[in-house]
Amino acid sequence: MTQFDLLLVGNGNVARRFVSLLEERRGVLGRRYAIRARVVGVKTRRSSAESTVDFIRAACARHAAAARERRLVVVETTTLDVAKGEPATSHVRAALAGRAHVITTNKGPTAFAYRSLRRAAERAGRKFLFEGAVMDGIPIFNLVRDALPAVTIIGFRGVVNSTTNYVLTAMERGETFDGALAAMQRSGIAEADASLDIEGWDAAAKTAVLANVLLGARVTPHSVDREGVNAAAAHRILAAQAVGRRVKLVASAEKAGGVVRGRVLLVDLPETDLLAGLDGQENALILHTDLLGEVAIVQRGSGLTPTAYGLVADLVSILRDVQRTRASRRSPGPARRDRNP
Ligand SMILES: NC(=O)c1ccc[n+]([C@@H]2O[C@H](COP(=O)([O-])OP(=O)(O)OC[C@H]3O[C@@H](n4cnc5c(N)ncnc54)[C@H](OP(=O)(O)O)[C@@H]3O)[C@@H](O)[C@H]2O)c1
Repeated sequence: MTQFDLLLVGNGNVARRFVSLLEERRGVLGRRYAIRARVVGVKTRRSSAESTVDFIRAACARHAAAARERRLVVVETTTLDVAKGEPATSHVRAALAGRAHVITTNKGPTAFAYRSLRRAAERAGRKFLFEGAVMDGIPIFNLVRDALPAVTIIGFRGVVNSTTNYVLTAMERGETFDGALAAMQRSGIAEADASLDIEGWDAAAKTAVLANVLLGARVTPHSVDREGVNAAAAHRILAAQAVGRRVKLVASAEKAGGVVRGRVLLVDLPETDLLAGLDGQENALILHTDLLGEVAIVQRGSGLTPTAYGLVADLVSILRDVQRTRASRRSPGPARRDRNP
């Protein structure tokens, strides 16, 4: 049995659902993977005056034995910051420096500092994983890493923000922009600061995450061409509807001549386009690959449970890595260390 000790950095909607999901799935995690997990520390913005980086350093030192045994995991679920991805990026660095693994649903660190954090994780021999950061834990990074060996991703196109897709769909039905947005805020799906969703920042951050991880880019949300959704879009939505088209907020990036360009733009799509078929909170991502053509991932339901599941999936990925490392230490030959996605 592997006992993971969890340090929760952020304890809002996602972290609380993660903890309850671990409890609900305790049986299957124990039987299938021999995983047990317990929370050994919690830090929120208001829980103490101590800085969160200091909390992480002290907690990693306090749990040094678990860190050494690769059982200490920092669960980073603080609020998204689209200016610099901070202080979450510093939280990840402090955790890796303390020899803890990091799992996060926060897009900030991967959108702003993916390469340097991946290098820090490799140097520390720990994992930095973020399956829940894009499309709520529906497998994207796991899929590419584990199920698409030797495939190169050359671009992608998708609808990756549930709030704006819900608002666009509601406006097609004649609902108001404000009413539809308020419904998303009540459900906890919209970001704490809903302007991040409607101004396209959340989608730009996801575009940066996808581009950095899947296309090897060095983009940030600020270098992504960005458009949002507002009440004035109603006219365009109804005009598109009248000619059998649908307006969607499409995130995309492709690699051309070694350069990656990311975009989040309102696009009128024909109804035959897979992205045009997405209603309400539905999301989809179409990966353009060199060997398999287009590979599409569709998310019909969104919410806290799939996002929290992304963290559970990351925990299982860490277990597999720990098991591989143990096995490679037992077997002769040079030790192998897998790269992050
Ligand atoms: N909700 C979703 O469906 C969803 C889906 C995918 C990804 N995400 C991402 O997951 C993350 C968490 O989302 P959420 O819905 O759980 O947010 P939330 O309910 O607003 O919770 C955020 C938590 O972060 C804490 N926090 C903020 N700044 C902090 C700091 N500097 N140090 C320590 N703690 C800090 C807050 O503490 P206080 O309460 O003390 O302020 C709160 O506990 C966000 O990055 C979000 O973008 C969310």
